[in-house]
Parts: sequence; C-alpha cells; structure tokens
Amino acid sequence: MEHLLEVIYLIAAVTFMLGLKMLSKPDTARKGNSIAAFGMILAIFATIFIYRDAHGMHLKNLWWIFIALIIGTVIGYLMAKRVQMTAMPQMVSFFNGMGGACAAIISIIEFGHLEYGMPEDFSSKITIILAGLVIGTVSFAGSMIAFGKLEGKINDYCMPGQQFFNVGLLLAIFAASILFGTEIIGGSAWFYSILGLSVLYGLLFVFPIGGADMPVVISLLNSFTGVAAACGGFLYDNYVMLIGGILVGSAGTILTVAMCTAMNRSLLNVLVGNFGGGSAAAGSGSTQGSTKEISLSDASVLMKYSKKVVIVPGYGLAVAQAQHICHELESILEEEGVDVKYAIHPVAGRMPGHMNVLLAESNVSYDQLIEMEEINPEFNSTDVVLVVGANDVVNPAAKTDPSSPIYGMPILEVEDAKNIIILKRSMKAGYAGIDNELFYRPKTYMLFGDAKDSLTKLVTQIKAS
Ligand code: TAP
Repeated sequence: MEHLLEVIYLIAAVTFMLGLKMLSKPDTARKGNSIAAFGMILAIFATIFIYRDAHGMHLKNLWWIFIALIIGTVIGYLMAKRVQMTAMPQMVSFFNGMGGACAAIISIIEFGHLEYGMPEDFSSKITIILAGLVIGTVSFAGSMIAFGKLEGKINDYCMPGQQFFNVGLLLAIFAASILFGTEIIGGSAWFYSILGLSVLYGLLFVFPIGGADMPVVISLLNSFTGVAAACGGFLYDNYVMLIGGILVGSAGTILTVAMCTAMNRSLLNVLVGNFGGGSAAAGSGSTQGSTKEISLSDASVLMKYSKKVVIVPGYGLAVAQAQHICHELESILEEEGVDVKYAIHPVAGRMPGHMNVLLAESNVSYDQLIEMEEINPEFNSTDVVLVVGANDVVNPAAKTDPSSPIYGMPILEVEDAKNIIILKRSMKAGYAGIDNELFYRPKTYMLFGDAKDSLTKLVTQIKAS
C-alpha cells in the first residue's frame, strides 16, 4: 500500500509539472489547469484512503475531513464562477491567503505534538515548524490586506519610518526564531509571540505598498505560500506536498521577477516605491499640444478600407468588458478582407495573461494574439492601430523620457503605424499616473467614450456602410 501511495504521489507531481508547462500557452492553459487539478484530487483521495501511519493506522476524523472538503469546494466553486474578470487579482490573493493560513495552522498543530513528544530531532523539526509558521502567517496577513486594498476597502497606509520599523520587525522575528530553535527560549508564550509578530509584519509589509502594485505583491506572497506548504511536506515526509510547494514557490518567484522586468522596475522599487499612486505629474514629459478627435463614421471607414488593422487591448477593455464586441469588430473587418491581429503586451491589464484570458473568453483565435516582440516590427506596415483602453503599454515616454517612471519599459511601438485610433473615456492617465504623448501626435485620433459603447457603435457603422 505504501508503494502504491508513493506511485500515486509521483503521478500527481508529474501532473503538476505538466499542468504548469501547459499553462504557459493560451491554447493549452485550460487543459493544463484541469490536468494539475486532477493530480491534486488524486493525491488528496489517495492520502485519505491509502495512507497508513507508523502503526499501520489509517487517517481518523474522516467525517470532518469530508465536511471541510465539501464546504471548501462549494465556496471555491461559487467564488470562481461569480468573480468578475477585473476582480481576479483579489480572488487569487484571497485563495493564496487561505493557503498561507493552512501552512501556519499545520505548524501550530505540529508544535502542539512536539511539546509533549519532544523527539530527538527537535531542532530540525522546530526549524521547519517555525519557517512554516512565519512564512505562512506573513502570506496570510499580507494577502488579506492586498485583498482589502484591491476591493477598495482598505487604503494605503504608511507611518513615518515604516520601512525601518518593518526591517526591525523582520530581524526580531529572525532572532526570536533562532533563539527558539536553539532552545535558548521556549514554550508556548514565545511561540505565539513569534506568530503575533509575523501577523504584524504581514500587515505592515503590505499596508504602504501602492494599491496598484498589488499584482506584483500578490505574486510574491503566492511564492511565500508555496514555500510554507513545502515546509509541511518536509514535516510529514510527504513528497507531493513538498514538490507542489516548491513548484508554487519557484513559479511565484519567476512570475514576480518577470512582472518586474516587463515593467522595467526592480522588486525593491515595487516594495518601497509608490508607483501608480495617482500623481499625473511624474516624469518631466509635461505634454504639449492638442488632441484630434475622430468621428465614428470616419473611424469605421478608415478601418473598413484598411489592409491591416492591429488591435491593442489594455486594462480599459477589461473594465468595459468589451472583449466580445471587440471580437465581433475583428470578425466583420475580416469579412471585409482586412487582416486583423491583436498586439499583446506582457503587462497589459492588471494580472499576468489578463488580455489572453479575456480574449480567449470571447473565442478570439490564439493565432491572432501576437506577442510584443513579434508584432513591433509589423507596425510600420499597419494601416490602423486601434488602442482599446490601453495607455502605459503604448506610451513613448518609456523610450524617450529618462525621468519617466516607466522609462525603459518595453512598449508596443504603435507610433510606427499609419494611423492610431485611441478608445478611452477621457484624458486621464493609466496605472503609472502619467500623461501620454502619443495622444498628441499628428497620426493619433481620439475616440472618447466607454470602450464597449464605442466598439458597438463602430460595428453598427461598418455593417451599415
Ligand atoms: P493603463 O495604463 O492602466 O490604462 C488603462 C486605460 O484604460 C486608462 O487610461 C483609462 O482611461 C482606460 N479605460 C478605463 N476604463 C475604460 C473604459 N470603460 N472604456 C475605455 N477606456 C477605459 O492600462 P495598460 O495600458 O493595459 O497598462 C497596464 C499597466 O498596469 C502598466 O503600467 C503595467 O505596468 C501595470 N501593471 C500590470 C500588471 C500585469 S501583470 N498586467 C501588474 C501590475 C501593474 P480613461 O479613464 O480615460 O477611460
């Protein structure tokens, strides 16, 4: 039986890796998610029914386990079904916080077992228990604040000297953990003090970070949860938990770094900076000149008689929920013989793969989603670029203004196209809080309004003309 369990764990671990690999491409992502979920279900039920302890006893409290499984499944299913695409980051944050809390609870329970048994390998066990406790608790507390901020229920908060206070707090947690692990201090009071300090650190670590930087922080906290879960794997000698935790930990870290690189910012800058705080004054590029508006009929004629149109989706497409009508526009343009593609910037929107997920939802063909590096050389042969609710990812200041907070961020070079039409509601800035020179360029035309509304009218015009 023990060998059967190990074989099942191995199969589950392989499904996790396969799932992760498949998640990296839009056309295989759904299947990858299902494969990894199947592996997780297999591992959970194998543990429940096949696992035997050192005395040959199977798991007890099966009713409690099943009740918890049913409650968790129902809540998770309903949340995932009902969540709006734009609220996805906060849901990820909430689920991630639950993972951190589970890892911390495992540490609390195993600490209770340690106190009475006092095994010989105390120091190695307590090290893992404390690591799971601290990392899991920080992830839980931080994720809850991130969730509250993204829901708009908690404001950014920073007290004077907070960064120094946070570093001091982190050092205090390290010091207390080392003293505890080496038995210089001990007992429940100290253990729960470390827990309390970790909660405080998790809260204070996330409180000052600009609300808009939350996706990066959530990804970082996600990797913390993975490491905390891996500690549980060490404690129980459970390979699937260990491998799953390490995969989440490393994938979260890689994603955090990839997001920072795509925004051309260091992780430190995200954690201590105040990017996207809403100030439109950042950067020296105080934009001069006036904008040109385009009428719906002119815009529809321009697109209908083009050879090639590239659509640049951004955060505003998600806000307006305009993905379906955008796909309809693409289809009618194609019927008119226009070559239509989508230009996908790696950090367009507010979460990794945001645009891919949205467009996949409206059945846009994956072949039409072209990554930034591939589409940039194509702009000079493009007749019209239709920018739908994107701003920072097409802002030339990233290339021209060294004082801009987005300087160095690779952008979609839409300026190279013959005509650029921008769909947005006003002249307001995007996430980085800065003005965009592109809107004032001679080849750029503004079409103000909600993206869904404007696209619907454009579709009607093209059909009618
Ligand atoms: P943004 O620069 O945030 O611009 C979005 C634009 O959409 C705004 O200028 C807004 O202008 C417009 N908009 C909002 N609602 C709209 C609606 N209903 N209809 C039409 N337009 C609407 O978006 P982006 O270009 O996608 O860039 C993403 C930004 O987020 C980058 O700075 C990136 O670094 C950052 N970020 C991304 C991620 C990930 S992983 N994707 C994570 C963290 C941060 P109006 O208000 O005038 O309409």
